[in-house]
Amino acid sequence: MIGIGVLVSGRGSNLRAILEAVRNGRIKGAEVRVVVSNRPGVPALDVAREFGVPVVVVDDSEFKGGSRWDYDRLVLEELERHGVKPGEGLVLLAGFMRILSREFVELWSGRIMNIHPSLLPAFPGLRAQRQALEYGVKYTGCTVHFVTHEVDAGPIILQAVVEVRDDDTEESLAERILKKEHEIYPEAVRLFVEGRLKVEGRRVKILA
Ligand code: GRF
Repeated sequence: MIGIGVLVSGRGSNLRAILEAVRNGRIKGAEVRVVVSNRPGVPALDVAREFGVPVVVVDDSEFKGGSRWDYDRLVLEELERHGVKPGEGLVLLAGFMRILSREFVELWSGRIMNIHPSLLPAFPGLRAQRQALEYGVKYTGCTVHFVTHEVDAGPIILQAVVEVRDDDTEESLAERILKKEHEIYPEAVRLFVEGRLKVEGRRVKILA
């Protein structure tokens, strides 16, 4: 059984999609053991509670002066305390609005994923949907990737394409992208748990 820890900061809709996929058996052989938030009182924590998953808040407002690793060490402790261990578990970033330290990322290398609302490498960083609209692309989408020390730049696991409409607003586009996020994130987790992802340099091969 693979122990999953999910790091969140906000709404928690991707967290919900993953919890549902575990509950309905689409993802087998894994369980979400803890949800960690850097912000207190966010909706994602209620999503976790609804599914009976333990929640931990490691409030980062008190860490402004400390190093990234000082903070991440606390997250690591909570993950381990809940049975999510480097080298055997899986960490999922689901709307987690912090950059992780090099130490944390190295410890979890190959076992940490993120979802981003664009077709990377286009539009990394914040407000990717707005960036896509402003640039004028006709297609955008979402990307699940392994996390490396460079933000939004790790090996790509899955992507889904979304057409940009003439009358799209940032909100309408984000909403259609989000629907796709909820499909590909659980799918990427399923492939990982089934041992079907093989990383070769930048490329992630999906084994049959
Ligand atoms: C999603 O758009 C995801 O791609 C981005 O942050 C948002 C999180 O949404 N990284 P939610 O908290 O999963 O609803």
